[in-house]
Amino acid sequence: MIALDKAAKPLKGDIFVPGDKSISHRSIMFGALAKGTTEVTGFLESADCLSTIDCFKKLGVEIEHTVRPTHGVPTITVHGKGLHGFKAPDSTLYTGNSGTTTRLMSGILAAQPFDSVITGDMSIEKRPMGRIMKPLSSMGADVVSVMGNGCAPLRFTGGRKLRGINYHSPVASAQVKSCIMLAGLYAEGDSVVYEPALSRNHTEIMLASFGADIHNEVARDGSAVAILHPGMPLIGRKVNVPGDISSAAYFIVAALMVPGSEVLIRNVGINKTRAGILNVLSQMGADITLLNVDESSEPKADILVKYSELHGNENNQFIISGKEIPTMIDELPVVAVLAATGNFDTIIKDAAELKVKESNRIDAVVGGLKSMGCDLEATDDGMIIHGGKPLKGADINCYSDHRIAMSFAVAALAAEGTTRILDDECVGISYPTFFKDLQGLL
Ligand code: S3P
Repeated sequence: MIALDKAAKPLKGDIFVPGDKSISHRSIMFGALAKGTTEVTGFLESADCLSTIDCFKKLGVEIEHTVRPTHGVPTITVHGKGLHGFKAPDSTLYTGNSGTTTRLMSGILAAQPFDSVITGDMSIEKRPMGRIMKPLSSMGADVVSVMGNGCAPLRFTGGRKLRGINYHSPVASAQVKSCIMLAGLYAEGDSVVYEPALSRNHTEIMLASFGADIHNEVARDGSAVAILHPGMPLIGRKVNVPGDISSAAYFIVAALMVPGSEVLIRNVGINKTRAGILNVLSQMGADITLLNVDESSEPKADILVKYSELHGNENNQFIISGKEIPTMIDELPVVAVLAATGNFDTIIKDAAELKVKESNRIDAVVGGLKSMGCDLEATDDGMIIHGGKPLKGADINCYSDHRIAMSFAVAALAAEGTTRILDDECVGISYPTFFKDLQGLL
């Protein structure tokens, strides 16, 4: 449990947030699948990404952690095995709380010559896996849900020959798309995944940089397709992981909420498929400036945020919906917190995916904000927040969801009295030093 009071003074400072979670996972996975070594700097050493390392170690991959005496930057070195070099694990692969590890690894396990079982914690064992089992089965994989409920544990029977697939995913999900692309590396023929909107494209960018023939196309209506032609060798390389915009989001919102604040967050990934929060907040009137923009394949920038009076549209409303949603799906809880403090209504829709994240984030956000005095209601695919009622401190149940814990830590800064985050240790899933870094700005 951690107790937080209303911010007594503005947030000020200059901060680096830890490495991007999605890119960190992929650096280990693709490094393991490649031939040669992959050196990763900026890797996120949080529980989720360490689960990915553990799983690949169980498949026989050597992964080292070194701190170079010359400049003190930790490096993770992955000694790749190539597509066909993994050994059968001698126990169940355990992915902890990590949906990305579970779903992406499943694409790899489906194609191995050996049997395997993968599962994670109580949250993982409730999250839908049918969305990957269905396309993997169509590709020829033998995958079953051990409990027969469409959730992990998943059991793979090895030695199946996979074929490429043309798959129309009903949801814009990078985990589904990436799972299929990874299985597709082993398949005969191309794999093509259509999605209603472009989900985060880190897999496409990084796999291509390792040598794979993979790319995205985005249609005029915003729908997207990822296309993989298998057969190209994957070669290890250096990967430099930028800071995670999902982690930066907490400080962006905190600075926008607390009068007089000014915070500079350095070296943050601003890939367009992830940076929807910046557009949405700017439309609300947020004073956000990007500095030192580096337009490499995974673009990054320093983000300068100053306290701002936010506004809705001419009807005193703000709507977040449609293709914006996948570009900020993990940031919606903290954006909802910000919306609670604005003098307008915010409508979040087309975001039913929030229900199947680490917790049901619609229920968690609506329940938590209600207990703090906010006037809001849950809908089937989001929520409607009637902002502007003063927030008061409350006891917050985070359902062991890291993003809920960090969002309500930010809400606490705008709330009269004390807010207690009951299961605060879950921030270690993606941001182990979050509370220390937040204190550093206060
Ligand atoms: C992720 C994709 C998203 C996101 C998750 C990380 C990834 O999930 O919410 O935190 O690294 O591919 P979905 O693919 O289920 O939308």
